[in-house]
Amino acid sequence: MKGLLTAGGHGTRLRPITHTKNKHLIPIANQPMLTYAINYMKNANILDIGIVINKNDKEIENIFGTGKKYGVNLTYITQNSPLGLAHVIKISEDFIGKDNFLFYLGDNILVGGVKKFLDEFDKLKSNCHLVLSKVKDPERFGVAEIKNNKIISISEKPKNPKSDYAITGIYLYDSSIFEAVNNIKPSKRGELEISDAHQYLLDNNKKITFSEITGWWKDTGKPSDLIEANKLVLKNILKKNKPFDYNDIKLKNKINGQIICGANSAINNSIINGPVIIGDNVVIENSIIGPNVSLSNNCKVINSTIENSIIMSNTSFLNIKQTIKNSLLGHNISINQKTDFLNEINLIIGDQGKIELT
Ligand code: DAU
Repeated sequence: MKGLLTAGGHGTRLRPITHTKNKHLIPIANQPMLTYAINYMKNANILDIGIVINKNDKEIENIFGTGKKYGVNLTYITQNSPLGLAHVIKISEDFIGKDNFLFYLGDNILVGGVKKFLDEFDKLKSNCHLVLSKVKDPERFGVAEIKNNKIISISEKPKNPKSDYAITGIYLYDSSIFEAVNNIKPSKRGELEISDAHQYLLDNNKKITFSEITGWWKDTGKPSDLIEANKLVLKNILKKNKPFDYNDIKLKNKINGQIICGANSAINNSIINGPVIIGDNVVIENSIIGPNVSLSNNCKVINSTIENSIIMSNTSFLNIKQTIKNSLLGHNISINQKTDFLNEINLIIGDQGKIELT
């Protein structure tokens, strides 16, 4: 069994962050998002993994290298242009060879890993095993129509979905998927759609089975999805963490709930409401942090309040009177409020930046 992981695509819904960073490297609980997918595969004993990246993308390889430090062997496959998920599979045929494989969309985060889905695929001996999740907004996803516990049709982002079952970004295949991706035509938006490849399998009497995710799963397409994923991952990793024992920090601050704090970080006269993760070399003074906050390395928070947010490295907040909430902030941002009243605002923000003052 091999693994195939996506780390390319457009990332348009996450601009301006994705103008300067591959979305799969956005940190969730201070770890690049793709780390979770690699760990899920490793824990399911999938050690030979192909990662599909955009042309000229060096960022992913710079971070994950050969995969040795994650206990896996990584091969990078370049997609010259993001022509669709079925196209991703098509260009990976040489890497996959005759093996069965797990295809995993690198922007999907779930609790509990993937091992149970591999076991189901093995047991059911199907050509394709899909992982479904009941959602409130199926029109955002590939949707499976189910009758008598069998998938009878599949459509991509339908206006009138035939069920509430989204097809998540976790797929198991044998080599029949290559016949499908080599026979379908691009959709109206010019992509080789994964849902069309699945429908091809159905039309050609291949066996498609499915499992349902009953726990938590997220496609992190939008900033609010990332903030929600961060919240749930924090809750989960901190639940397993040993109790908070940084006595010096406890003495100088009020700590509620679970937190993780990196090396050389100084916290003074503040309230930390876990779950919160704080990176290395962070300074927090006279501030309130949490719940559900990830602060990356070298951040500085002085006289400010942050809740439910992801803050990337080297970002600083000085004297912010309003609570910063539900926010996704990139690297090297500095926010400084000089007066109590917002009678004048001077901002220099990158392309497509978004500010909400409420
Ligand atoms: O997350 C589940 C959904 O993922 C499924 O329900 C849909 O059927 C499936 O089409 C897909 O929809 P998205 O709109 O979420 O796909 P997106 O364009 O965001 O791409 C998903 C991942 O694949 C992401 O890691 C980026 C990467 N990608 C995407 C394309 C189109 C590539 O690496 N190359 C590509 O050509």
